[in-house]
Amino acid sequence: MKWAEVRSACEAELKKAGIEQPGRVVLDWFDDEFGLASRKGDEQIPKANLVTINEQLERLILGEPLAYVTGISHFYGYELEVGEGVLIPRPETEELVRWILEAFPKHSKLRYADLCTGSGCIAAALGLQRLTWTGVAVDISPHAIAFTEANIRKHDLGDLLTVRQADVLSGEVLPKGEQFDLLVSNPPYIPDGDWDRVQKSVADWEPHIALKVENTDPLLFYKALCVSAKQHLCKGGWLYVECNDVYAKDVAHLLRGEGFSEVEIFMDMQGKERHVRGRR
Ligand SMILES: C[S@@+](CC[C@H](N)C(=O)[O-])C[C@H]1O[C@@H](n2cnc3c(N)ncnc32)[C@H](O)[C@@H]1O
Repeated sequence: MKWAEVRSACEAELKKAGIEQPGRVVLDWFDDEFGLASRKGDEQIPKANLVTINEQLERLILGEPLAYVTGISHFYGYELEVGEGVLIPRPETEELVRWILEAFPKHSKLRYADLCTGSGCIAAALGLQRLTWTGVAVDISPHAIAFTEANIRKHDLGDLLTVRQADVLSGEVLPKGEQFDLLVSNPPYIPDGDWDRVQKSVADWEPHIALKVENTDPLLFYKALCVSAKQHLCKGGWLYVECNDVYAKDVAHLLRGEGFSEVEIFMDMQGKERHVRGRR
């Protein structure tokens, strides 16, 4: 069989299974799994590739996210390893990274911590864009940490970034006495009560620990981040957070109340209040 024939057959199967944008999914899937060679429609597919395609097609039909099937996600132009147990990085988080990079000149030396790092996407993108910076990437989940470490190895950032398994809510998330110029976090921010509005593929496949926060205190993680900032953020240092658009104003209010200055809300590409920053 030829690539073009298999591509259309896969697209038809995904469409039948109710997968959204099946044509886009197939293009991204084949690019990530087989490289650009798969776009040469007239060439015959090697037999081994057909076996992989059949196995992966079944997983996609069952609703598994493409990034888990291929093990690849793209973030800020970099390829990252992902899989079950770690959140797939989202485009709005790339906007958070861009907001930070625009605020700090290219060659500044800076020490940063990415709390709730997941795949390590924020920590790695900052490190790759600013090779003079050093950082710490922290997560509570051993599954996530395995991917953070894999991505640091993949991008050869081991000299610049260290990984730490710790609980942001414990009050001892960073090494005692260490000071940082920048703290960044994309913590879990979907209250339990809103869970039925979460897309099925997300709820079925992605780790709930990465997404859910108790209804009773949607700002729980932001309060803990303020505590960490008091302990570990230098005077004049910055805290950048991603948040639920419904609570962005509350997060900004919290930061002001905790003594942060220059507090600002950033609107994402969809026009939602998505990120907040403040200066200690
Ligand atoms: C929304 S995800 C963000 C992951 C990644 N930074 C990103 O932007 O894709 C939140 C992350 O927080 C981690 N997490 C949840 N509770 C935590 C806690 N108490 N302490 C540290 N990390 C936690 C989860 O394991 C998950 O990786």
